[in-house]
Amino acid sequence: MLNALESNFSNASSNTSDMRAQLDSINRSSHDAVAIQVLAPLSTSYLPWSTSALRPSGLVKILNEIVINRRDNILECGGGISTLYIARLLKQQGHGHLYTLEDNLGWIEVLQNLLKDQGLDDYVTLIPAPLVPCHLALDGNHWYDLTAANAILKEPTIDFLIVDGPPAYDEKRRRSRYPALPALKSVLASDFAIVLDDINRSGEAEIIQKWSAEFGLEFEQYFYDGDVAIARSQGGYHVG
Ligand SMILES: C[S@@+](CC[C@H](N)C(=O)[O-])C[C@H]1O[C@@H](n2cnc3c(N)ncnc32)[C@H](O)[C@@H]1O
Repeated sequence: MLNALESNFSNASSNTSDMRAQLDSINRSSHDAVAIQVLAPLSTSYLPWSTSALRPSGLVKILNEIVINRRDNILECGGGISTLYIARLLKQQGHGHLYTLEDNLGWIEVLQNLLKDQGLDDYVTLIPAPLVPCHLALDGNHWYDLTAANAILKEPTIDFLIVDGPPAYDEKRRRSRYPALPALKSVLASDFAIVLDDINRSGEAEIIQKWSAEFGLEFEQYFYDGDVAIARSQGGYHVG
């Protein structure tokens, strides 16, 4: 009798957690569906979306930050669909510039061609940055070679840092994005915002904790909206 009760209880709780997971998945998909509508004014031609790209709802969080808190000097780690949408927004606004650190030379060529074809190349500087050993890296990972970036970014003027690279989807590289903040702090303006993508993964969750402790930042975390976390050095307007 007791065994049967225990088994019913355990089935009920596993059904509850299944239902929670399904509800979460529905919520995430519906936030992305709404975001696709929000992005419509900037969705001017087909783009090669893939699972590597930011989720649409995460992209909206980033574009909102650019518009509302007037982030004009943007530095992105890891280029892709985000690069194209940010460039389209900057062109529409008529101000702002995006610098993109990218390790994959073939992908840089693809992005450069897309930017050129769409008349966006004036708004973006793609910076080749192969992955190399880095003294700030955790777990012996590699990070971007900043040689080319250092020649371009000489002053602390970057007011928005977006961290969506290097790739960090496997166990060995799960904390490979950690160096972004310590390595790039010297080019950040005193009033800056930072976004980290993929915070649903354990590696990125640890990185947020380390950055918070080491740099005194408070991250807002959005799991339904794109799995992105955002922190601002000096407040700024918070978009819920
Ligand atoms: C997480 S992705 C960056 C995605 C980008 N921020 C976006 O929203 O599309 C990290 C790296 O994956 C590679 N990558 C991104 N999209 C890709 C694609 N569609 N095909 C091949 N490589 C891609 C690039 O080297 C990029 O730096």
